[in-house]
Amino acid sequence: MFRKTKTRLTLLNASVMFLILTLLGTSMYVYLRTAIIGQIDHAMQTRAAEYTVQRPQMGVYFSQGVAARIASIGTLSMTTSAFERAINMIVWDEELNPLTTLIPERFSPKLLEKLKGSIDATELFNVRHDGEVYRIVNIKITTDNAKRLNFISLQDSDGYIQLISDISTEIGMLNVVLGLIIIGIVFGGGLSVFAGLYLADRALVPIRSSWEKQQQFVADASHELRTPLAVLQTHTELLLRHPDHTIEQDSREISTILNEVRRMKKLVNGLLTLSQTDADKLELQMKPVSLGRLAEQVLEKVMPLASLKDINLSWHVNPNMMVNGDEERLQQLIMIVLDNAIKYTPSSGSVHLSCKVSSGYISLTVKDNGIGVAAADLPYIFDRFYRGDKGRSRSEGGAGLGLSIAKWIVLRHSGKIEASSIQHKGMKITITLPAL
Ligand SMILES: Nc1ncnc2c1ncn2[C@@H]1O[C@H](COP(=O)(O)OP(=O)(O)O)[C@@H](O)[C@H]1O
Ligand SMILES: [Mg+2]
Repeated sequence: MFRKTKTRLTLLNASVMFLILTLLGTSMYVYLRTAIIGQIDHAMQTRAAEYTVQRPQMGVYFSQGVAARIASIGTLSMTTSAFERAINMIVWDEELNPLTTLIPERFSPKLLEKLKGSIDATELFNVRHDGEVYRIVNIKITTDNAKRLNFISLQDSDGYIQLISDISTEIGMLNVVLGLIIIGIVFGGGLSVFAGLYLADRALVPIRSSWEKQQQFVADASHELRTPLAVLQTHTELLLRHPDHTIEQDSREISTILNEVRRMKKLVNGLLTLSQTDADKLELQMKPVSLGRLAEQVLEKVMPLASLKDINLSWHVNPNMMVNGDEERLQQLIMIVLDNAIKYTPSSGSVHLSCKVSSGYISLTVKDNGIGVAAADLPYIFDRFYRGDKGRSRSEGGAGLGLSIAKWIVLRHSGKIEASSIQHKGMKITITLPAL
């Protein structure tokens, strides 16, 4: 039944997790790369600023230092402190000939060709050569600036300075990180399928159980409806057997049919209420109501029923006991409990209803000295379609829905309903609601 849903849920879960993993991995890599390359760029731009025209003081200041280093080392691998990056420098004249004394030994002619080809680039860029990666920045040197920088060979012409930093180690490290992230994503992707399966299973537990409950409800309801329908059919068939009979002659059949129709109406109403409660479609009209007064109204209604069975119905209520609730539903609740008490108490028994307030709660108790229920059955009396004595309950017109509706009403009023009973001695139902 749920296989398709489960597959879909699993796929959905797994792809969401995979997407999150990929996003996390990618942003981690991009952040790391930007941070590392950004640092390199910053170092190179700082160095480049030493040669730009826009900062004459700096230029002058550094010119002596740079010149001194060129003189003493002959080649330029400039590091001003032990922690600063090594940045190589190549100076090109106007005809794009490199100042050979400054070229580091490991720079092959092929690399120099590549460098020369990119002399017009204005932004920082990478050059790959022989498995190494270099980060480059070009600086155009004017005659003026060349003079100030003391580049003797450039003194009468324009030229270029190219700052070159070997970033192979950093790129290598970034590649290792990228590899690890990809492995993580692939591995995590595999895991996320299992996790997705597990999550789908977990998510389906409540759905499955409510589906099963619903199935059970429909099955029980149909079963309950079958009996009255069968009775209706047989009795109508009996009527049809004697078309010449008068209504008086068939009055027994007709009254059975009428009783059965009443029973069915009650059952269908109960089913409707429960299906509405399941779908959360029953709105309660909450307002302050006097529980005592409601009880009195219901008592009045059931009085004829009690006197018919010669049951002594007594009560002790106080009209000042107020609760916040739905008047109609609370009446229904009291009716269900009183109806049961009268139904399951033999003639000349007694039923007593009382109300009392204690510590913010109002408790309404209905106590009878009827047949009661066995201790083993007590936990089930609030279940749908549960009937202690099928035969008796049916003859009394119940389908086992009353107390389950009662329980729903009480719960919606933030209260609780409890039952205690001794078999053959009687039953006590206590309803507790928050007082106003
Ligand atoms: N006052 C009572 N005395 C004895 N048994 C009761 C009483 N109230 C409820 N019960 C038991 O609880 C069952 C469920 O009650 P209810 O939900 O109202 O269904 P119904 O009255 O239609 O059987 C009854 O069938 C009966 O066995
Ligand atoms: Mg009942």
